[in-house]
Amino acid sequence: MSAQIISGTEIAKQIREELKQEIAQLKEKHNLVPGLASVLVGEDPASQVYVGSKVKTCDALGIYSERNDLPADTGEEKLLALIDRLNKDPKIHGILVQLPLPKHIDAEKVLYAIDPKKDVDGFHPVNVGRLMIGEPDYLPCTPHGIQQLLIRSGTKIAGAEVVVVGRSNIVGKPIANILLQKKEGANATVTVCHTGTKDMSFHTKRADILIVAAGKPKAITADMVKEGVVVIDVGVNRIGKTAEGKAILCGDVDFDAVKEKAKAITPVPGGVGPMTIIMLMQNTVRAAKLAAGLA
Ligand SMILES: NC(=O)c1ccc[n+]([C@@H]2O[C@H](COP(=O)([O-])OP(=O)(O)OC[C@H]3O[C@@H](n4cnc5c(N)ncnc54)[C@H](OP(=O)(O)O)[C@@H]3O)[C@@H](O)[C@H]2O)c1
Repeated sequence: MSAQIISGTEIAKQIREELKQEIAQLKEKHNLVPGLASVLVGEDPASQVYVGSKVKTCDALGIYSERNDLPADTGEEKLLALIDRLNKDPKIHGILVQLPLPKHIDAEKVLYAIDPKKDVDGFHPVNVGRLMIGEPDYLPCTPHGIQQLLIRSGTKIAGAEVVVVGRSNIVGKPIANILLQKKEGANATVTVCHTGTKDMSFHTKRADILIVAAGKPKAITADMVKEGVVVIDVGVNRIGKTAEGKAILCGDVDFDAVKEKAKAITPVPGGVGPMTIIMLMQNTVRAAKLAAGLA
C-alpha cells in the first residue's frame, strides 16, 4: 500500500481562495479591511524572507499590511512603544513580532505586551489559556494548520488515538490541546511523547494519527508505525545543500519507508509549511471580525 499524499500546498490554496472571497465581502458589506502589522528587528535574512512572504500574502488577499523594520540595536523601550501604538491603531487587527528578537530584548516581555485581541500568532498566555479551556479566540497558526490538514484530507479525528511527538509551546502542546477538545474536528484520545518518554515505539505504534514535531531528521522509522496510520510530519530539517546551494530539507519521518505503511502522509516540503502563513491570514480576518462585532 502506498499512502495518499496530503498536500499542504493544495489545501492552503483552497483556504486562500475562501479567504479572498470573505475579505472582498467584508469590504463590500461592512467597509472592513483586515490589517496586519509586522515587526522585524535586525537584518536576519531568514526573518526578512518570512516577513516578506507574509506581506506579499496580505497584498494578494486584500489585507492591509504595515511593515515595521527596525535596526538591530533598537532598544526594548522603543519596541514596547511601537507595540503600544499598534495596540491602539484601529486599522491594525493583528500584530506579528517576527522571532527571534536580538538578545538584548526580552522577547517574552514584548510578546506579552501585545493586546491579546490582536495576538494573531496565539502565543499570549491569555490565548493559550483560552485554548486550554476550549474557548479560543485564535488558534496558533501551525497547530491550526495541522488540524485543517486532517479535516480537509477526510481523516476521522473523533475517537482516534492521536500520538504527538514533541511538547513545544508552539506545536506539540497546542496541537494536543486542540485535538482533545470535545468539539468537531477534535474529540480524540491524545498521547504526547518527548525525550522523557520510556518507550516511544510503544506509543507511536498505537497511533491512528501520528503528529511529529521533534526537529530530528527521520526520527520516525517504518518499524515505529502501524499499517494505515495517518502521519503529519511537522519537522523541517536542513540536511545539506544542492550543487546550486539550495537547502535540502527533510522531515522528522522517514517518508519513503513510512509512506509504504501509512494510509496518508504529509511531505516535507509542501505539507505543514504552506499552512502556517495562510492560518495567520485567517486569524487576521477573524481579529478584524471580532473587533467589528461580526464574529
Ligand atoms: N512547518 C512549519 O510551519 C513549522 C512550524 C514550527 C516548527 N516546525 C518544525 O517542527 C520541528 C519541531 O519544532 P518545535 O519548535 O516544536 O521544536 P522544539 O521546541 O525544539 O521541540 C522539540 C520537541 O521534540 C521533543 N523531542 C526531540 N527529540 C526527540 C526524540 N528523539 N524523541 C522524543 N521527543 C523528542 C523535545 O522533547 P523535550 O521537551 O523533552 O526536549 C521537544 O518537546 C522543527 O523541525 C521545526 O523546524 C515547522
